[in-house]
Amino acid sequence: MSGSNDGSNGGPAANTMWGGRFKGGASDIMAAINVSIHFDQRMYAQDIAGSKAHVAMLAKQGIVSDADAAEITRGLEQVRQEIAAGSFEFKDALEDIHMNVEARLSEIIGAPAGRLHTGRSRNDQVATDFRLWLRDEIDTVLTALKDLEAALIDQAEAGADMVMPGFTHLQNAQPITFGHHLLAYVEMIARDRGRFEDCRKRLNESPLGAAALAGTPYPVDRDMTAKALGFDRPMANSLDAVSARDFALEFLGAASINAMHLSRLADEIVLWMSAQFRFIRLTDAFTTGSSIMPQKRNPDAAELVRAKIGRIAGSFTSLLMMMKGLPLTYSKDMQEDKEPVFLAVDSLMLAIAAMSGMARDMQPNREGMLAAAKLGFTTATDLADWLVQNQGMPFREAHHVSGSLVSEAEARGCGLEDLPLDVMQSVHAGIDASVYDVLKVENSAASRTSFGGAAPDNVRAAVKAARARLGTA
Ligand code: ARG
Repeated sequence: MSGSNDGSNGGPAANTMWGGRFKGGASDIMAAINVSIHFDQRMYAQDIAGSKAHVAMLAKQGIVSDADAAEITRGLEQVRQEIAAGSFEFKDALEDIHMNVEARLSEIIGAPAGRLHTGRSRNDQVATDFRLWLRDEIDTVLTALKDLEAALIDQAEAGADMVMPGFTHLQNAQPITFGHHLLAYVEMIARDRGRFEDCRKRLNESPLGAAALAGTPYPVDRDMTAKALGFDRPMANSLDAVSARDFALEFLGAASINAMHLSRLADEIVLWMSAQFRFIRLTDAFTTGSSIMPQKRNPDAAELVRAKIGRIAGSFTSLLMMMKGLPLTYSKDMQEDKEPVFLAVDSLMLAIAAMSGMARDMQPNREGMLAAAKLGFTTATDLADWLVQNQGMPFREAHHVSGSLVSEAEARGCGLEDLPLDVMQSVHAGIDASVYDVLKVENSAASRTSFGGAAPDNVRAAVKAARARLGTA
């Protein structure tokens, strides 16, 4: 940074967009803290779409002439093409995307360009751009999440009868099926989609025409611009229109919850890949090697998905803190609303894509999961249930008998199913050989037929329901 910071450095001339009452240029530091073009250029397409809708309305209302409106529209389209082609020169001195576009428009069409900003302010303009941009991104996120669900549903179908241990406290609890476990995530992601859809509904109102904050004396038709931009309606209060950012926060809230779900699944993938679990294998496509340990296959993609919540929830906190305590209406603080949202969108999209990739790449190890399901006396509850159902024992007492048999098996270093019948009978005389059926982990999982339970038939039905919900059945 060069130059003085006292504003009298005779640096750049006063801004041509708003510099009517300014004699000198901004100090270099003022310019550096004020500039946003390096990030808000990302909304150029939305900015130009908003301007086209605005000028069409101005012409229809007789606020500008049809001839000027036609020139402005033609010029805006040329600007759009230049930016899309990468030939547009963004200028820091013009601060932001709005003024960069308008200045170039003025170069292209001359005087009529000055009529575009009638009955409008950058305050309603930026709010409009940001809503339009985020609406598009939400649609992309929703499509990506559906793809992830589809991938998980396919794996769930293949794993409908693969028995694995279900956990509580990360301790083996009861036998479940791999398909059932994956479908739990399908439920979470479907709810996440619902949150994004809700957010989209609420954000889809147009701030355009609120102008700086109070509305405008021009006979603008806010319904017309709202409709042209695909909004459901104009926002009802001009002050709210230019200063609300809860739509972005709602998105970041939904994104944080979604990232938390992805993080949990990612963590399970990391665990499942380990030699201690051996539940799944990922191919070279989603793993990396170690520069020193030749045997390593590291689940880096899963680890990075697990980590993304940091940036995403951080973005939520960042925007929430930035908005807190701001008086109505617009304050320049709010220029800092975009970067956290951009960062969160990019991080989330990458995380979802990586997770979909891993979900498809995942090769479940049926034998490994089955062997693990047999560890830790996972059918002790089945044994207690057998005593209730076959011996008429109260569940509390059955729990106690089953517990005694677990400690007997533990002492012998064997599984419950390996305990000889006479040992069982010494704990409870009524036990007969039919008990061994319920001690098999496959039978245990298959018995979980209550609605929402882990049984293979339930999984197959749930797969169908999940596909129907996705619209891919
Ligand atoms: N670049 C600004 C932003 O992103 C645009 C709005 C500027 N409004 C103003 N009154 N200075 O917030």
